[in-house]
Amino acid sequence: MPGIVIVGVQWGDEGKGKATDLLGDRTDWVVKFNGGNNAGHTVVIGDEKYALHLLPSGILSPGVNPVIGNGVVVDLEVLFYELEALAARGLDTSRLRISANAHIITQYHRTLDKVTERFLGKRQIGTTGRGIGPAYADKINRVGIRVQDLFDENILRQKVEGALDQKNHLLVKVFNRRAIAVDEIVDDLLSYAERLRPMVADTALLLSEALDAGDVVVFEGGQATMLDVDHGTYPFVTSSSATAGGAATGSGVGPNRLDRIVGIVKAYTTRVGSGPFPTELFDEQGEWLRSRGFEFGTTTGRPRRVGWYDAPITRYATRINGITDLVLTKLDILTGLDEIPVCVAYDVDGERFDEVPVNQSDFHHATPILEYFPGWSEDISGARTFDELPLEAQDYVLALEQMSGTRISVIGVGPARDAVIVRHDLVD
Ligand code: IMP
Repeated sequence: MPGIVIVGVQWGDEGKGKATDLLGDRTDWVVKFNGGNNAGHTVVIGDEKYALHLLPSGILSPGVNPVIGNGVVVDLEVLFYELEALAARGLDTSRLRISANAHIITQYHRTLDKVTERFLGKRQIGTTGRGIGPAYADKINRVGIRVQDLFDENILRQKVEGALDQKNHLLVKVFNRRAIAVDEIVDDLLSYAERLRPMVADTALLLSEALDAGDVVVFEGGQATMLDVDHGTYPFVTSSSATAGGAATGSGVGPNRLDRIVGIVKAYTTRVGSGPFPTELFDEQGEWLRSRGFEFGTTTGRPRRVGWYDAPITRYATRINGITDLVLTKLDILTGLDEIPVCVAYDVDGERFDEVPVNQSDFHHATPILEYFPGWSEDISGARTFDELPLEAQDYVLALEQMSGTRISVIGVGPARDAVIVRHDLVD
């Protein structure tokens, strides 16, 4: 079973690192297939904590080949900043391969991201400001700059000219900013070309050969189902395909090579940025969850919005992604509650919805219909088998499993790497 996809079920930050750690030394390749440096995972190297935003987590494991696929948007300044920071700590990053077809985030994408958000005022999306949306917009609009363009100066110049033609009008006339010079962008991009060259490859071919050879390839999704540009809470989404289908288009392997689809879901819900969130808490229980769960953004440091577990969202994600296994994370954070509310359906202006409403206005108005499950007070972080969990915690997990429509194969019970209960192996 060599092709394993990892996707977020909710609005991101579910703790995908637990699953990648668990696959650990059985992984031969880790592929990032969507997003850019809007993601964030904290990694621990020796005594040091380090936040990676762009590089796939596999970069830290000596036996793993990390790949940045064609579906990713790459900010070269961030790429080299992260690579140099890892090299300074003695890590070998030479195995990294980057798709020649990946698109590049330039200075004008970052600028446009920020000014557009400001311009939107109350309607703003709450982006990470990293230029993600504008870079993907250029890709779809066919005026993007790809990694391979850096190796042909003429083509690069033509493409940058084409991209800046309209943007400079927009920047100057609408946003009252200065125009960006073609030379400034071309020189900046060319300054990375020679360092980038050895990393650039036909990664679709590499991955296909790896799968043919029986290697274990992990496709690591950035963001999550409810932030997917097609299936999320549009327009309050990111601009890429964060669902399992994106693993195929964003890496260039056929969908039939994806054998296991692992959905990562938190035992409660969080969201960064704007948009609907039916189970959101605004009271002291929300404060309690936020501080207990350390719910602050890795990329922006923003406090995350928090709420109870939303079962229709997991059912939806299971269906959209074809999830075969769930990894339930941060169960330990709920320890100490007398009872644990779970959203089982929605009320929309007096009408009951058992599934996520297709109509965004309905989802905006949805209030959760809650069921209450008995809590537990014992410390569960030392449990390594399901039977070692208090009965109430077992019942909570079994109830979520039953409502989600797929098995919960792994349960995270604490921040430590090994603080997991494995009920079903993710590889066999
Ligand atoms: P963008 O990806 O910067 O365009 O932001 C679009 C939306 O996705 C915003 O609401 C962000 O907060 C959210 N977002 C992007 N990346 C992440 C992530 O890694 N975790 C959680 N939310 C994210």
